[in-house]
Amino acid sequence: MSILVTGGAGFIGSHFVLDWLHGSDETVINLDALTYAGNPANLASLAGDPRHVFVHGDIADRSLLEQLLSQHRPRALVHFAAESHVDRSIHGPGEFMRTNVQGSFSLLEAVRAHWSGLDADAKAAFRFHHVSTDEVFGSLAPADPAFTEDHGYAPNSPYSASKAASDHLVRAWHHTYGLPVLTSHCSNNYGPLHFPEKLIPLMIVNALDGKPLPVYGDGQQIRDWLYVADHCSAIRAVLAGGRPGQTYNIGGCNEIANLEIVHQVCALLDELRPDPLGPYARLIRFVADRPGHDRRYAIDARKIERELGWRPAETFASGIRKTVRWYLDNPDWIASVRSGAYRDWLGKQYGTPAG
Ligand code: NAD
Ligand code: DAU
Repeated sequence: MSILVTGGAGFIGSHFVLDWLHGSDETVINLDALTYAGNPANLASLAGDPRHVFVHGDIADRSLLEQLLSQHRPRALVHFAAESHVDRSIHGPGEFMRTNVQGSFSLLEAVRAHWSGLDADAKAAFRFHHVSTDEVFGSLAPADPAFTEDHGYAPNSPYSASKAASDHLVRAWHHTYGLPVLTSHCSNNYGPLHFPEKLIPLMIVNALDGKPLPVYGDGQQIRDWLYVADHCSAIRAVLAGGRPGQTYNIGGCNEIANLEIVHQVCALLDELRPDPLGPYARLIRFVADRPGHDRRYAIDARKIERELGWRPAETFASGIRKTVRWYLDNPDWIASVRSGAYRDWLGKQYGTPAG
């Protein structure tokens, strides 16, 4: 038996593949286009492991998908592959439409063709797990209740609009064709292997370089942070016991404002790698806000806890300490992702001071 994972060289996908093979001998076929966000170094510990079959390719490549599905006959597919960074979607939405919408459509069509030809038992057991985000629900006011699975869609960025579009395709393929799909909406992940364009890893690597820590607007935007291993355990729980056609919200009950996150990162660095020039918080700079910036996300994760018994294992205090420690212990990984393209991105987004 095998499962097919898309985007398994990215941040969450590589954690999922590593955790899966840590707990199971079931082969993982890992399809990834290795964009700037895909990093084979994330999977270095699997070199020579026959349970991991890495395929360098695009989810929009129908013939490749058909070949992989007929060759490996996976019992399930977990779809992580996406363009995932909101700021990049604001600068250039085209790639988000191509991968997140068109790519997800190609994947659904290839899987539907494969699934239609299975025998009745295999058809009933097959699962297509779509990894979505809480951002499709839009922004909450301070006193609003957290997002439930029934919250209306209100995506505000090109990224979240493209993810919302893919969610609708997945839903329709279940409703119309009967494809056994599962969709999960997770809040902000953090942890090792996180590409340093996102808030937490950017703050860690900039602080270690003595560079400015750019906080958008007033820094009071709130996200609901979840350690990446907890997201992976939640996906395994949904894959194993989720009801086809259902959606599951995943979150850590850790609503924290961005400025507070940055201060916590600085405090941990002060403790673990003190800077002779002074506390890292001296590097904080308030910069122009993100256009259309969502003010608050919060997840109501009672459904997945009630139906599947999932709860996060990590608190924010334990998870952020592990995360900062990992970046301190892995300077080679940091160096490997800071290519010319990465520096170009920092220049485009922040101008030279933050890069
Ligand atoms: P990431 O940007 O780190 O990784 C994305 C991966 O997809 C990369 O390995 C990249 O090479 C691959 N990829 C991109 N386009 C591809 C294509 N056309 N074909 C094949 N592979 C392609 O993203 P991430 O943060 O690991 O997020 C993974 C998924 O989880 C995404 O679908 C994202 O929307 C969702 N999600 C992320 C978060 C978060 O906080 N990071 C939270 C909730 C949901
Ligand atoms: O909520 C889930 C989403 O979380 C995922 O779907 C996305 O793929 C993932 O990238 C993440 O989106 P965010 O936009 O919330 O994450 P990001 O790390 O880019 O930003 C977190 C917050 O920090 C956000 O309010 C913007 C702010 N920020 C970000 C950066 C990069 C800053 O203040 N300064 C920065 O330099």
